[in-house]
Amino acid sequence: MEQLLQQIAQYRQEIESTVANGAESMEAYRIRFLGTKGIVKSLFSEMRHVPADLKKEFGQVLNEFKQLAETKYENWKQTAALSEESGSEKPDWTLPGQPVAVGTRHPISLVKNQIVHIFGRLGFSVAEGPEIEDDWHNFTALNLPENHPARDMQDTFYIHQNPDWLLRTHTSSVQARVMETQKPPIRIICPGRVYRNETISARAHCFFHQTEGLYVDENVSFADLKQTLYFFVQEMFGQEVKIRFRPSYFPFTEPSAEMDITCRICNGTGCNVCKHTGWVEILGSGMVHPNMLENFGIDSNKYTGFAFGMGVERICQLKYRINDLRLYSQNDVRFLKQFTGAR
Ligand code: PHE
Repeated sequence: MEQLLQQIAQYRQEIESTVANGAESMEAYRIRFLGTKGIVKSLFSEMRHVPADLKKEFGQVLNEFKQLAETKYENWKQTAALSEESGSEKPDWTLPGQPVAVGTRHPISLVKNQIVHIFGRLGFSVAEGPEIEDDWHNFTALNLPENHPARDMQDTFYIHQNPDWLLRTHTSSVQARVMETQKPPIRIICPGRVYRNETISARAHCFFHQTEGLYVDENVSFADLKQTLYFFVQEMFGQEVKIRFRPSYFPFTEPSAEMDITCRICNGTGCNVCKHTGWVEILGSGMVHPNMLENFGIDSNKYTGFAFGMGVERICQLKYRINDLRLYSQNDVRFLKQFTGAR
């Protein structure tokens, strides 16, 4: 009996010190301890020779030993299965990682930020206003009284519930809001979305983006307007770009002019973007109409100002050669992804 217990203690030690070493050694272990002719079985058959009063104690020792032998084997099997699942080989640190998809800025935002940044360097600060406007800020205050024919220049979306409400047709409404609350000197840039009731096509959309500028102070002249805008296009498109002004009409400026730049697509040699003229229009501008200043209690004898408004999509088209306006709002990631890395 004493001998048997010593034997079991030895086996226990053997089991505890056995280390897993591949499927073969695992099988050898199983046969040696747990097989039909294995150690556990043969120890159990020793029960017969154990005196009756020690049977209980010996049985307990045996059961514990059996459990130890089995648990060892089961654990072993489990770890082997796990490592097979995850590939028992060492990880290959040289493999390329999973790419992390980084978001990109929308080209309209990129160009808008750039416009704001350039004018920011000239001392213009950003002003914003609501997209749902009232008639006063979008039209009347801008020297466009009711029934003024120039209201037809912009196809307006009116809001049914209240005929006084509309979706702003230009960011000039922000000029009005700023002049309402601020006194000169005023130097602001107003980026934002505007709406016009147009059929959607490659060249027209029912919403688009504008950036408006306004500068009101003493002695502001058309020369200031010209130089400011010239600085802007050179910063935006490069030093070699030329500008030209064409007389135009806007109710809120007098005199008014539209500004063209040499076509960035064909560099002035003629293409379908510039309709083979070598020039493309990028903005409307002019000296703030005295009526408009007076509408806001600004003395038009003392103060003068200039204003301009440009379409962000147009600048974007010339910068990135995007020829279809619909691309901007379709949210096609194949289009949007191309602007990765741009500022
Ligand atoms: N608001 C004009 C438009 O939407 C642009 C403009 C702004 C013209 C300021 C002159 C001065 O077409």
